[in-house]
Amino acid sequence: KIIPVILAGGIGHRLWPLSREHFPKQCLSLTDQELSLLQQTLLRTVSLDVADPIVVCNEDHRFLIAQQLQSIGVKNSSIVLEPEGRNTAPAIALAALEVKQAYGADALMLVLPADHVIRDLVAFEASIVKAAELANQDALVTFGVQPTRPETGYGYIRSAENYQVAEFVEKPDLEKAEAYLASGDYLWNSGMFLFQADTYLAELSSYRKDIADAVVAAYENRHEDMDFVRIDAELFSQCPEESIDFAVMEPTNKAKVVPYTGDWSDIGAWDALYDYADKDEDQNVLLGDVMAEGTNNCLVRSESRLVATVGVKDLVIVETADVVLVMDKNQAQDVKKIVKRIKQEM
Ligand code: GDD
Ligand code: MG
Repeated sequence: KIIPVILAGGIGHRLWPLSREHFPKQCLSLTDQELSLLQQTLLRTVSLDVADPIVVCNEDHRFLIAQQLQSIGVKNSSIVLEPEGRNTAPAIALAALEVKQAYGADALMLVLPADHVIRDLVAFEASIVKAAELANQDALVTFGVQPTRPETGYGYIRSAENYQVAEFVEKPDLEKAEAYLASGDYLWNSGMFLFQADTYLAELSSYRKDIADAVVAAYENRHEDMDFVRIDAELFSQCPEESIDFAVMEPTNKAKVVPYTGDWSDIGAWDALYDYADKDEDQNVLLGDVMAEGTNNCLVRSESRLVATVGVKDLVIVETADVVLVMDKNQAQDVKKIVKRIKQEM
């Protein structure tokens, strides 16, 4: 059996005003489905032969997340709570300790970000079957996606024969990203991983012993609180902050990559949601109570009242009960700047 490990600790600031500190992106239903991204992620694994999932999230979101799991019939999950996020290297280490404790050191864990959308379940399953074979031979397996633009927010993987990773470069600068794309030799790191709990813990210990030791200390001093695993807040606060990509995937010699050829999106910002969604004949994505005249290439989402647009193009308009966002779709990354100002000014 494979144990799904769901990383659900982020907020998803670039999807403000829908994502909020107390209602993170992975708990929203952003796509055509009623289900949230987190629920879709969990349901994606049920057709595989998997054990009960482990979810790692911020303690502020524990009831929201527990309720979302329950409503899709996931009953025996274990939810590990972080008092504050320390990025993915520690979060995955916590899950690895939990896996090791429940299933043994060589149990396979499938690490899935809670905020990705994947429609092609056949391709998804095929790459997981191949990945499991490699992971059982002590590899840290990543899933590689064909890149389509010089995105600097992703990891790049140069693959060699036999699924070997010749090079892993996390978040390169634009110049490098353009060169990687042009070369045709690189895949994007999808952010999903498969490995044995101990393979990860051992590699983390050899490259970032400080992180590994801090996580072990915080986990050893945990206590159970209903369905939640509460690690020691004081000890965890001393853990350095780092992603798995920088902490382990770049330096390790045990990385392997399995190509994933199906569709994939991490819906990072509003323009990504626009790209992903089905469009009408004017290339608009209109969600909720919206009337559009002479409007093209827009994403308009209404929640609490009618939103009408006339003669506009390339806009994102998101209306909620207390906030209206109007922005150029080509500047969707800059929502972060508003979120930052709100934190400072309010
Ligand atoms: N529990 C927990 N705690 N989860 C976290 C934390 C944390 O401290 N930090 C991030 N996460 C979750 C996020 O919610 C998301 O689901 C996932 O871990 C990945 O974190 P991101 O912050 O979104 O990473 P990224 O997008 O910058 O980069 C990663 O994903 C890319 C693909 O989407 C890397 O793995 C890249 O190499 C990859 O290309
Ligand atoms: Mg991401």
